[in-house]
Amino acid sequence: MTELSARLRPDPARSHGIPIAVLAEITHRCPLQCPYCSNPVELERASAELSTEEWLRVLGEIADLGVLQLHFSGGEPLARRDLETLVARAAALDLYTNLITSAVTLTEARLDALANAGLDHVQISVQSVEDALATRIGGLRGALERKRAAASWVRARDLPLTLNAVMHRQNLHELPEMIEMALDLGAARLEVANVQYYGWALKNRAALMPSPDQIDTASRVVDTARERLHGRLVIDYVEPDYYAARPKPCMGGWGRQVFNISPSGKVLPCHAAESIAGMRFDSVRDHPLAWIWDHSEAMNRYRGTDWMPEPCRSCAHKHDDWGGCRCQAAALLGDAGATDPACAFSPRHAEVFEAALAFSEGSDRYTYRDFSGGTPERDG
Ligand code: FES
Repeated sequence: MTELSARLRPDPARSHGIPIAVLAEITHRCPLQCPYCSNPVELERASAELSTEEWLRVLGEIADLGVLQLHFSGGEPLARRDLETLVARAAALDLYTNLITSAVTLTEARLDALANAGLDHVQISVQSVEDALATRIGGLRGALERKRAAASWVRARDLPLTLNAVMHRQNLHELPEMIEMALDLGAARLEVANVQYYGWALKNRAALMPSPDQIDTASRVVDTARERLHGRLVIDYVEPDYYAARPKPCMGGWGRQVFNISPSGKVLPCHAAESIAGMRFDSVRDHPLAWIWDHSEAMNRYRGTDWMPEPCRSCAHKHDDWGGCRCQAAALLGDAGATDPACAFSPRHAEVFEAALAFSEGSDRYTYRDFSGGTPERDG
């Protein structure tokens, strides 16, 4: 068994071990305004961001913890002018580095600098296969063409490329073309990420929620494409929770394998954890990262299985789904410690399905992500 597969294997006797990956959200600044952005609704300003020196120290602490993969994310990580410096340090520490980017501000010179610094992988988000819809979703004219160009530069440098397509009611009809675009651009992997409803996406639920028919069609399209493209394109597909019968093991289990660091250095069990009212997060500015991972209140709050209520506590699946998603329980039920209502065993499961049906017939108008708490889409 490899070191990685040994780490990934669920071990019911251990609530947590060495984290596999860290999502470093180095800034919340972004040229796009996607209405499903995974950043918190209250964005952190540039003035609060960790300095280059602080990140260099934190990268050392990440490597000392035994982490294998580091995902540079945002906002838009290219907004930080020191990204090359951070990538170079991470590579020198033998971390596998992934750049998660909108790519709309990428240049060939910047990509060369990142590749020379040791960048291992690039993931580009796409909003639509069609220029007008991509512009409407992200709020930036010409974004799709810039992404296409950036993808070609990535492949010309022989860097592995993943496309991340966030899908929802207003673009799911494009899924077959999205798969073709991933092939055309030379991606090895396509993440078909149905929107998860926290933060900005929760604000925009009525504009984003697909219908059950759309999800049935999408599942069939993915199944057929996976068979046809076996060996050419890996397609990850995450069913939307509102229409699922089983909850997803969110983040691989709270505080088990992965954590996030916010732009100002708060260590979060997941990207949406700040949506849980009353939870306190420790910062790398105040504590060593290893202490936060092992001992912080937030990291331990829903770790393992001892916190679980019934029916989760006596459920045969509890070491598979680790209780699902705490942020979803908080968003939908107002109680982060409740059974994830995406689970068919939850007494509130039917309500979630009914709510999804109602939202799927909502208004198409977005509220755009921005530092002022959101701006409604204008008419026309
Ligand atoms: Fe926070 Fe699922 S997003 S636990």
